[in-house]
Amino acid sequence: MSGKQAKLTVGDQSIDLPVYSGTLGPDVIDVKDVLAKGFFTYDPGFMATASCESKITFIDGDKGILLHRGYPIEQLATQSTYEEVCYLLLNGELPNQAQMDDFRSRVKSHTMVHEQLQFFYRGFRRDAHPMAVMCGVVGALSAFYHDSLDIRNPEHRQISAIRLIAKMPTIAAMCFKYSVGQPFIYPKNELDYSSNFLRMMFATPCDDYEVNPILARAMDRIFILHADHEQNASTSTVRMAGSTDANPFACIAAGIAALWGPSHGGANEAVLRMLSEIGSVKNVDDFVRRVKDKSDGTKLMGFGHRVYKNFDPRAKVMKQTCDEVLSALGIQDPQLELAMKLEEIALNDEYFVSRKLYPNVDFYSGIILKAIGIPLNLFTVIFALGRTPGWIAHWQEMIANPYKIARPRQLYTGAVQRDYVGLQQR
Ligand code: SDX
Repeated sequence: MSGKQAKLTVGDQSIDLPVYSGTLGPDVIDVKDVLAKGFFTYDPGFMATASCESKITFIDGDKGILLHRGYPIEQLATQSTYEEVCYLLLNGELPNQAQMDDFRSRVKSHTMVHEQLQFFYRGFRRDAHPMAVMCGVVGALSAFYHDSLDIRNPEHRQISAIRLIAKMPTIAAMCFKYSVGQPFIYPKNELDYSSNFLRMMFATPCDDYEVNPILARAMDRIFILHADHEQNASTSTVRMAGSTDANPFACIAAGIAALWGPSHGGANEAVLRMLSEIGSVKNVDDFVRRVKDKSDGTKLMGFGHRVYKNFDPRAKVMKQTCDEVLSALGIQDPQLELAMKLEEIALNDEYFVSRKLYPNVDFYSGIILKAIGIPLNLFTVIFALGRTPGWIAHWQEMIANPYKIARPRQLYTGAVQRDYVGLQQR
């Protein structure tokens, strides 16, 4: 509580509303009392709505600040590891060595999936989009863990978190293997998290896969940059599903489904398709003209953000990683040059500047994923894998504290009550 009050006056009614202050960010106005006065608040798209209290991630969109449990993303991305960030998001503090060893060991002991799970893949066409497969398979996990789905039991919540973090790389790699008709590769627990994933992706029974440490480090950094992002659409979906007391696997599957949209996590795949459509630098000006022509309906994918009205700090780190990985691998990717030209033009064009449109996390990530060898249709699966600890941390934070089922209301503008008319009379 801040002790501050807001006063809402509607006609001759006056409503006093409490104002709360957080440790960072804007104060919030608690509006629930407007209901008793016969009003709903109205905020389509939740442009100005704080849906919950949280201690996990803070974003300052004007300053381009992103903190996970208070630690800046720039420091975590360059000094931490993804498994350490998973621990931080779930537990609120950076682990000491013993805690890290224990967490890593628990994750390693759950990297395999139930042998029956592989048969779920066979129900899909080989050319099914991997996000459709991942969504189905993750939701199906709840069918294998009836012994630990009591969301009121902290131990069940904890083991579900470990299982999801441990199994998402295995499930993601199986999505890829299934799509290319290769046999599934089991996890090899002597490897670190990201190396294990890359080996499951690219090894075959005939040829093992020597993990390039540059790629493993880049993969790990990409997972860190996607780990959490406050109350974004997919995280809010996980929270809403969780508010019905659904099991954690169903909630994460709901988050995966929400992430798939090209306005959200599906943008990383859409950026590469956009760059391929543009083709070369000489077509950039015409493409930008189309983006600025509203009737064309073309968006500059990987640009813009609901919260960031300045640079997305993750995009900056992603761009640096792009440069590092491509130069380390000796790759000259014309699509990187094209992306940089697109960024340069957009950042100097009134249309984008006036709308505060900057590159977001998805603008450069695909260039790196391509350099690692990840196929285009798996980009959003990688985003879902990376975001899993964030989704779980928010789900746990909600379930571990008092909550109510999420049930918004509406502004109804449909027909007023009227009597049914029989078919003969119409
Ligand atoms: C992610 O919320 C999160 O935190 C998400 C995320 C996470 O980590 O979870 O950060 C991940 O989803 C990043 C965003 C990925 N999506 C894209 O890159 C798709 C392209 N971007 C847009 O679709 C859009 O910018 C959104 C969806 C990201 C944000 O939409 P908003 O906040 O509703 O903004 P808006 O659509 O109201 O745009 C404001 C103006 C509009 O023009 P006007 O009506 O004022 O004339 O900017 C224009 C929009 O038309 N605009 C764009 C644009 N994005 C906004 N114009 C061209 N290209 C774009 N990309």
